[in-house]
Amino acid sequence: MRKIYVFDTTLRDGEQSPGVNLNTREKVEIAYQLEKLGIDRMEAGFPAASPGDLASVNAVARAVKNVTVIGLSRSRETDIDAVKEALQGAQDPCIHIFLATSPIHRQHKLRMDKAQVLETAQSAIRYAKKYFPKLEFSLEDAGRTEYDFMAEMVGMAIREGANVVNIPDTVGYLNPSEYGAIFKYLKENVPDIERVQLSAHCHNDLGMATANTLAAIQNGADQIEGTINGIGERAGNTAIEEVALALETRAEFFGAKTSLTLSEISRTSRLVSKLTGMVVPGNKAIVGANAFAHESGIHQDGMLKEKTTYEIMTPETIGLKESKLVLGKHSGRHAFRDKLSDLGYDLSEEELNTAFSRFKDLADKKKEVSDEDILALIEEKLIDTPEVFRLQTIYVTYGNKAVPTAKVIIDAPEAEPIVAEAEGNGSVDAIYNAIDKATGEEVTLGDYSIKSVSRGKDAQGEVHVVLSQGEVAAQGRGLSTDILEASARAYIDALNKLLEKRKTYTKREHASL
Ligand code: KIV
Ligand code: ZN
Repeated sequence: MRKIYVFDTTLRDGEQSPGVNLNTREKVEIAYQLEKLGIDRMEAGFPAASPGDLASVNAVARAVKNVTVIGLSRSRETDIDAVKEALQGAQDPCIHIFLATSPIHRQHKLRMDKAQVLETAQSAIRYAKKYFPKLEFSLEDAGRTEYDFMAEMVGMAIREGANVVNIPDTVGYLNPSEYGAIFKYLKENVPDIERVQLSAHCHNDLGMATANTLAAIQNGADQIEGTINGIGERAGNTAIEEVALALETRAEFFGAKTSLTLSEISRTSRLVSKLTGMVVPGNKAIVGANAFAHESGIHQDGMLKEKTTYEIMTPETIGLKESKLVLGKHSGRHAFRDKLSDLGYDLSEEELNTAFSRFKDLADKKKEVSDEDILALIEEKLIDTPEVFRLQTIYVTYGNKAVPTAKVIIDAPEAEPIVAEAEGNGSVDAIYNAIDKATGEEVTLGDYSIKSVSRGKDAQGEVHVVLSQGEVAAQGRGLSTDILEASARAYIDALNKLLEKRKTYTKREHASL
């Protein structure tokens, strides 16, 4: 089996998804999970975008050990210097330089002719090679670039010492036969092509990212780039889990495999969804809630007779376990610990105590505590944000013929609890107005979403909000069996993160990515 290298860009291209705003702690948490998943290369961010981005890349670079950490750079020395600074402390650093090559980008964005593009990229690679033994070069919008110019650029990158050359379909325009043909052409026409790894980087604008990536593999690509859950600019990037499972399930057809630990896929997907606030659609391939559900009677009948009638891969492959034991209020510490270990969590004694007491509180409110409930409880406290404000009490009055009102009591450091009341056009609006009054912070609510963690009327609700204040934005999450309380918790969580971010915020330089 040929090994396909996995370059994950969840923390860079993925973080460019509209509304996604990860803080450093969240990026590091995702990075640790990606390392467990076994990706080969991790693009941690774009350090030149802002000092905050540079600091996050540095935190990731210092945190993970068994993966190459990559920083993105435009073809200019100041960007390369920023990557150099950001990757200090990385075990295995690599720089990723890009420049657009298509006629549309050359003419309208760069205002450069072919010779200028070639020369700009060449001097950037030369400069970066002084500091980075490992370098990837990307021909942005390669998908709409003339074949002969693409070959010239790839040839130059090889001569200048690039280790990986990436051929992005930046705008998700190509179809599989066209994208595959580019790889074939480059393999056959660029001298010394065997000295570099060729990489596929696809966007999903026409829903063809995975198919295009697989076509590239069939035509000799050595590396694939993508994100978990396929998040990213516009319609997103190639979903890594889809490519990995296609190669696994159709191993004989593709003759190629990644070295991912596939059983970590489900957990990685859940973490990325939770921290980015990007909900995975139920019908999403591999990681959607319905990906392994069989609804029709005929299918269920087939499954009972022989699973392979309708199942081409098993949920266990991606780490989903069938739950035999449902916990409730009579379940003890021992059963709870067993369940956690079944779910893949090995908590310290102290963490276990906190988790168990939260589980007991929940079991008082809910008859059956499902695996999803337990995962939500554990994962909610995964990342501790310094709390400036903390929700103590909340009262809401609502009637469909009356004006909704809310009263909140909020704990703040070194002060008496703050009490505030407000009205709103709905219960959530009233709560948020009351919190604004109590904290004295003026914020804009950019996004609000709610989902139930499990099934049933007594399910826990998980709320995700995005708040902004001027140019600073932050997202927060809240979990409760009561959706109004979950809404208040999410708002205060986002507010605490916003206040933290405000302390170190510096404007993002506009980067033409
Ligand atoms: O899609 C793209 O072209 C990119 C480059 C920066 C590699 O993300
Ligand atoms: Zn991209």
